[in-house]
Amino acid sequence: MVIAIDGPAGAGKSTVARAVAARLGFTFLDSGAMYRAVALAALEGGIDSDDGAALTSLAEQLDVRFDGTRVLLGDRDISAAIRTPEVTAAASRVSVHPGVREALVARQRALVGAGSYVAEGRDIGTVVSPESPLKVFLTASDEERARRRAAQSGEDVAAVLAAQRHRDASDSEREHGALRAAPDAVVLDTTGLGFDQVVDRVSSLATERGLA
Ligand code: DC
Repeated sequence: MVIAIDGPAGAGKSTVARAVAARLGFTFLDSGAMYRAVALAALEGGIDSDDGAALTSLAEQLDVRFDGTRVLLGDRDISAAIRTPEVTAAASRVSVHPGVREALVARQRALVGAGSYVAEGRDIGTVVSPESPLKVFLTASDEERARRRAAQSGEDVAAVLAAQRHRDASDSEREHGALRAAPDAVVLDTTGLGFDQVVDRVSSLATERGLA
C-alpha cells in the first residue's frame, strides 16, 4: 500500500514524504532518485539523453537500491552524485522516454506492492499506483519553490527559478507520466505553510482514512 505524494520540483515532497513515513512507520520511496540514477549512469557511460533505446536497456539493467537514506548503484553510494545540477538536468531529459519510465514504474510497483510506503514523485498517484488510498499533490508558488531549492543548494535563486521553469514545462508536457494531480488527489498548496503544518496535515489525512 502506498501514500502517493506528487508535485513539482521544490514543493517539499521529499522532506514531507520522509517525515510522514517516519511518523507513520512506513517506508519512504524517492522515485526521482531512480530517474537521477539512470541519468548519472548515462552521463558516466556516455549515453546520449535522446537515445531512448540505450537508456531503456540501461534502466532495465540498473542495479539501483535504497539503503535507509542512502541511494546505491551496485555497491557505490551515489546519494550526493545524483544531486548535482548536471544530473538534475539530465534526469529531466531521460525521464521523457517511455521505456525508461516503464522499467522504473515496474520496479516502483514491485516495491510498494510489498509493504507500506510513502512514495514521492510525479506520477505515483496517476500511473504507479492509481489505487492508492491517499494521494496528495503538493504545490507551492514558483518563487517559493526556487527559494527553497536555492537555500538548500547554495545556488542563485534566479538561476534555480529559470532551470525550474524549464523542468516544470518538460515534466508537465511530456506524453508519458506527465506531472498532473490525480482526479481524486488532495491538492495542498504549501506556500507560506511551515514544514510541521504540512506533515501534520498529510499525517492527519492518513489517520482519518484509517491507513495508520
Ligand atoms: O523529484 P526529483 O527532482 O528528484 O526528480 C528528478 C527528475 O525525475 C525530474 O526531472 C522528474 C523526474 N521524475 C519523473 O519523471 N517521475 C517521477 N516519479 C519522479 C521523478
